[in-house]
Amino acid sequence: MRCKARDMRRLVHHVTWRDIPRLTLRLKGRVWPGHFATHVYPLVRHDTMLPYETLYSLWNAVRSVVARDIPGCAVECGVAKGGSGALIGRALLEFDGNRRMFCFDTFEGLPPPTSGDPDYERAVDWTGKCGGTVEEVDALFRRVGLTNYHLIKGKFQETLSATNTDLISVLHLDGDWYDSTKSCLDNLWDRVAEGGIVQIDDYGAWQGCQRAVDEFFGTRHIDVRLYYVNPTARRLIKYAPASGLSRGLIDSGRASPR
Ligand SMILES: C[S@@+](CC[C@H](N)C(=O)[O-])C[C@H]1O[C@@H](n2cnc3c(N)ncnc32)[C@H](O)[C@@H]1O
Repeated sequence: MRCKARDMRRLVHHVTWRDIPRLTLRLKGRVWPGHFATHVYPLVRHDTMLPYETLYSLWNAVRSVVARDIPGCAVECGVAKGGSGALIGRALLEFDGNRRMFCFDTFEGLPPPTSGDPDYERAVDWTGKCGGTVEEVDALFRRVGLTNYHLIKGKFQETLSATNTDLISVLHLDGDWYDSTKSCLDNLWDRVAEGGIVQIDDYGAWQGCQRAVDEFFGTRHIDVRLYYVNPTARRLIKYAPASGLSRGLIDSGRASPR
């Protein structure tokens, strides 16, 4: 509720005519509902913890990389019951049926946070929660018509380096904790294609996630600009180091203060 109030204040203070499409999204498709609101969101909404605008941003990320001919598969780290993965898979199916998707998770719920998580006391209560099984996710993916995907069970720290994904065009990080997010960036950032999109779900929700992101880009001296999706999620577009800056998509909202 606190997040929603902040969100509303942000909207009211900065509204311009250009914001109207975004505002209509905030109304969760109740105004001028489009294909996504009427045909895609309803397929996954009961199997995801993510809100409408985060899912819509993932949908647009896939549309954007396909439209710009950015090569590579989609990768999701943090699947739970599979809702956001199913959404990414549906987008691939709709915009480019040849791209594969890799989904990584323990499929046994959240591992414990570590001392790397500044909000450990709050986070530790979530250990073992947010679970979904391989069978559940597989059933959902088939139900929504997906065939071109791999579900990889185990901790990111072991599975990511052992899996050859080749180039990645869309990377969705939803692993909550410091160690989990760090492991994803350490293993996968170099595989993200230039022009590829990375969406980080927990940047505004868990301090460990934010810390892992800030440390990673700080250590690599990559001047990354994170764009606001909603109070928790951010996204960015990767540019070659020579261009100096990994910018967010122009259509994705305002840059978050970092
Ligand atoms: C918030 S849930 C994902 C929500 C999901 N994207 C959705 O649409 O509802 C976080 C997931 O990350 C997984 N996870 C977190 N850290 C992990 C790690 N180190 N290795 C494997 N899975 C991890 C958990 O098992 C959990 O399923």
